[in-house]
Amino acid sequence: DWTMGDYAKSAIASIREKVGDGKVLLALSGGVDSSVAAALLAKAVGSQLTCIFVDHGLMRKNEGDEVEAAFANSGINFVRVNAGDRFLAKLAGVSDPESKRKIIGEEFIRVFEDEAKKIGRVDYLVQGTIYPDVIESGVGDAAVIKSHHNVGGLPDYVDFKEIIEPLRLLFKDEVRALGLELGLADYLVWRQPFPGPGLAIRIIGEITREKISILQDADFIFREEIAKAGLDRDIHQYFAVLTSMRSVGVMGDGRTYDYTLALRGVTTTDFMTADWARIPYDVLERVSNRIVNEVGGINRIVYDVTSKPPATIEWE
Ligand code: XMP
Repeated sequence: DWTMGDYAKSAIASIREKVGDGKVLLALSGGVDSSVAAALLAKAVGSQLTCIFVDHGLMRKNEGDEVEAAFANSGINFVRVNAGDRFLAKLAGVSDPESKRKIIGEEFIRVFEDEAKKIGRVDYLVQGTIYPDVIESGVGDAAVIKSHHNVGGLPDYVDFKEIIEPLRLLFKDEVRALGLELGLADYLVWRQPFPGPGLAIRIIGEITREKISILQDADFIFREEIAKAGLDRDIHQYFAVLTSMRSVGVMGDGRTYDYTLALRGVTTTDFMTADWARIPYDVLERVSNRIVNEVGGINRIVYDVTSKPPATIEWE
């Protein structure tokens, strides 16, 4: 009988054989795939591995610290680059969605490149490619609806001998099982998908430090209440979007003129199509009350009831 434990053992053995005493580099995003790949490589080659985590300052609340906590003491070389200021400076005044994506993708490469240079020689580069990525990129030339900067092309900005893709034959549920087998924390293994450009594409229009912080706080409350209601594994992706629209409200004796926040929740099997999640009204009510009371700058909450297609899951 084949088990995930057996798979891990043989994967570790073949990675060791391939790598020998070579040096290995991995770009860690904190997502499920790169986290599991990192855990596997850490077990296989330990101190020969360097993980670079580029924190672009557009992560969800506390997420950068969670990634650091999970990997900083695992016997590997872990580098967290706090590059928030760099990204924000490049994004200043930019409101077009595709421009934001391009800027973030390019800046990501530059930051990564700067760090990789400090390491010196790199023999192997690890990619967290999983089986569905392999299939998707092989199927025709589907119109690029949104540029996914972390899918597709191989980095040509670091010199290396060979690529290692240890998850290439696994489906998502198998990647999660492998992560648990390797001792990764539940919250890392069950993390919902999060786009490479992060909160930048969940803030409609121009990005500012203040908007990032408003969105992080609101999104945190939404996630907390969904988890408390026991819905976090039934709703496949759920998050808050800070719109650029402001409207009139009333709080105490005062008039407010603040942002509208949108909540998005979807159920899906492959993220190519998706249905909006029927979140119970009482859960939506708690989320709405808490956000308006606890987060400054928001006075109206709406729930997105469009499926994909015609909408996409993200708003940008
Ligand atoms: P859309 O918005 O196109 O999203 O319906 C489908 C899925 O892809 C995720 N997504 C991204 N993932 N880099 C990523 O790694 C990206 O640039 C990106 N854009 C969207 C989205 O969160 C959803 O799960």
